[in-house]
Amino acid sequence: MFDSHNRAIRYLRISVTDLCNLRCVYCMPAEGVAEAKPSEVLSFEEIYEFTKVAVGMGVEKVKITGGEPLVRKNITELLAMLSSISGIKDFGLTTNGVLLKQYAGELRKAGVQRLNISLDTVHPERYREITRIGVLQETLLGIETVLQLGFEKIKLNCVIKESPDEDDARGVADFAQKKGLEVRFIRQMDTEKGEFWPVIGGDGGNCAVCNRIRLSSKGMIFPCLFSDLSYDIRRMGYREAMLAAVQCKPEKGKHSHNRFCDIGG
Ligand code: 5AD
Ligand code: SF4
Repeated sequence: MFDSHNRAIRYLRISVTDLCNLRCVYCMPAEGVAEAKPSEVLSFEEIYEFTKVAVGMGVEKVKITGGEPLVRKNITELLAMLSSISGIKDFGLTTNGVLLKQYAGELRKAGVQRLNISLDTVHPERYREITRIGVLQETLLGIETVLQLGFEKIKLNCVIKESPDEDDARGVADFAQKKGLEVRFIRQMDTEKGEFWPVIGGDGGNCAVCNRIRLSSKGMIFPCLFSDLSYDIRRMGYREAMLAAVQCKPEKGKHSHNRFCDIGG
């Protein structure tokens, strides 16, 4: 399906929870975010049915995000449901890696093809500073585990302040090279101030070729991360909400009150 700026919308990012087991300084408040009422959060069945509709309308690529998607209870059940939808050519998950050691095998079995793992530094003390509560070694063990399992593609996401020449980023680049992994450097963004840049090594942040649409864990479609427009799939109906979101997708991002932890970056 084409939007009104002639972009074919093929990529759906689905946030399955706002919650996270880390508190990265650029993403979450120190105290975390309040847990949503269970009735507010989309059920697996709702996410599955919506995704089928979206795929019927041209979506080919699906990425599961959060918060941290692996903290959603029984997430592998949902992943298996979604990966069974024919018409999805590319099925991936973004994760901070903390729970990967535990979940890697199940993710592979559930049909996850691609992983994006967040890693901003390879220095344990810096990892603790950035994530406030994280232990680097857990994430590194997670990365080692998934490397053994034959995923189609594993990429690292590294958030940078200004440039990939910063000390933390260079450490991640060296690590990635040793492990044969690709890195995408994502310059820290501020949705409220409308500060965003094209992702280095990826397609994000490039409005002219943006083919994405986002579904939040509470059932709102956001056509643009840097716009407050949103469409409620429960209230409008799946097809109608999707149509409206695609038709009204802004040509360019400006600014928004969206938080990364709500709609998955
Ligand atoms: N700027 C850029 N990326 C962000 N992320 C979260 N918050 C921000 C932000 N303010 C992204 C990072 C991280 C993923 C979970 O979300 O890519 O790896
Ligand atoms: Fe969690 Fe990712 Fe946000 Fe860090 S950036 S707090 S890992 S959702």
